[in-house]
Amino acid sequence: MANKSKFQAIRGTRDLLPADTALWNRVEQTAREVFGTFGFGEIRPPILEATEVFARAVGGDTDIVSKEMYTFTDEMQGLPDPTDFSISPDHYVDAVEQAIKAGQIQVTDSNLKSLAQLKAQLGLYNSRNDLNSTEEAELKFRLSASHLAFGESISLRPEATASVCRAYIEHNMQQMPQPVKLYYMGPMFRRERPQKGRYRQFYQIGAEILGGPDAPAIDAELIEMLMTFFDKCGLQGTELSINSIGHAGDNCRRGYVAKLKAELEKVKDKLGADSQRRIETNPLRVLDSKLEQEQPIIATLPRIADHLCDECKAHYAAVKHELEQRGVIYRENWRLVRGLDYYMRTTFEITAQGLGSQNAVCGGGRYDGLVELLGGPPTKGIGFAIGEDRLILSLQESGKGAAPQGRDIYIAWMGERAYATAIRAAKDLRNAGFRVELPPTELKFGKALERASKLGSRFALILGDNEVADGQWTLKNLADGSQQKLTEQALLDYLKSL
Ligand code: HAM
Repeated sequence: MANKSKFQAIRGTRDLLPADTALWNRVEQTAREVFGTFGFGEIRPPILEATEVFARAVGGDTDIVSKEMYTFTDEMQGLPDPTDFSISPDHYVDAVEQAIKAGQIQVTDSNLKSLAQLKAQLGLYNSRNDLNSTEEAELKFRLSASHLAFGESISLRPEATASVCRAYIEHNMQQMPQPVKLYYMGPMFRRERPQKGRYRQFYQIGAEILGGPDAPAIDAELIEMLMTFFDKCGLQGTELSINSIGHAGDNCRRGYVAKLKAELEKVKDKLGADSQRRIETNPLRVLDSKLEQEQPIIATLPRIADHLCDECKAHYAAVKHELEQRGVIYRENWRLVRGLDYYMRTTFEITAQGLGSQNAVCGGGRYDGLVELLGGPPTKGIGFAIGEDRLILSLQESGKGAAPQGRDIYIAWMGERAYATAIRAAKDLRNAGFRVELPPTELKFGKALERASKLGSRFALILGDNEVADGQWTLKNLADGSQQKLTEQALLDYLKSL
């Protein structure tokens, strides 16, 4: 451990270094280009949101919200300090109540609980009966008050669909021509057990279509865009799975879930602990269990496709037809239910090669009703999110990584006069778009050429007193060792012509 640095990136997070970020940038640039051609604009929502946004949208019983979110209380600033003895306990409680009335402290379960505890403590303080216990009662009050948090519960986003819907409402985007097509890219946070392709800080590239009709062509075009993007990235072995999970009606998903639950109760003893729990919390999720022993049982369960209402059935059939018209190849998977509560009708997932067990490189689906759930008008919605870390991993495993970033030109200079010329040459060459390395201190030419090779430079520009005096610069091709003498202008023209 002796030479290990004391600080390391937090478990499940990592540094992306230049050798990797070149590919990340290429992928992101491709997304911008492809999504742009389909009429999408970029949105950059904040990374922090009120916890309630995710609890409502993604669902309180989902793993993401119940176990994996990074949540903390953003304490209200400006309340008096409870350990300040110049403010009496009564005054302090008054200040808290005023802040609640003024809306500075939100009326949430946790704030109300803290207030109740504070008042109970104040009651104890006020009921002290002799002078001796005054000091002790006051200390107790101040100590407990300083441990109570008043503020807003906020979370690092575990996904961005909820944020995009929140933004759609907040900015009255329903007033814009519908549907509104948005894409985003950036970090998401989930406290999952890290493994290959699974991180606690990971990156998504996502797109959402909000408003407008729920025409099946919208679902199909979104998926077409996704597959076009993967194709342009050179992703290998992609498989698109689709399903429809209907809508939340008694004649559709609700009816199906009731049937599924009844069937699951019958085989409960044969299921693992997770699935047994899910029979109560979210029976649909039993379907995406990967547990070996459960597979034969799941295969015999009723299938949602047989229980869709007429409209959802017709919608699903039309989505498949539209995909075929666009030449998008898909596989139907009746067990594809997805782990977030907001989905309805079309759901889809894409897997790619070289990823081991975490092989889902993208997930998405339709979520009509989500905007309404967050307090907006009834609005249709559909979208997806690509796991960028996994996409990159798969590209790297199939040898589609970017070439390492070398330098075009290394300027080997010696002498004061040559240095001044080297600075000017570096500026001109960089302005012309070349990647230039100008060593900050003088090096012997031999040493400089060694460094140039190590950096993967194509050329070394050799500038010594002779070159500066003659106005004839030496350009050495580091791949074949050949050298030529050129004037400044001729050198620029030559490099540009390559
Ligand atoms: P999701 O299926 O939870 O959906 O995530 C989408 C993708 O993000 C996954 O397929 C996976 O590639 C990647 N991903 C998820 N968790 C991790 C992790 N811990 N480490 C690395 N990659 C991960 C959503 O997030 C929805 N918001 C997608 C959506 C958008 N649906 C409609 N619109």
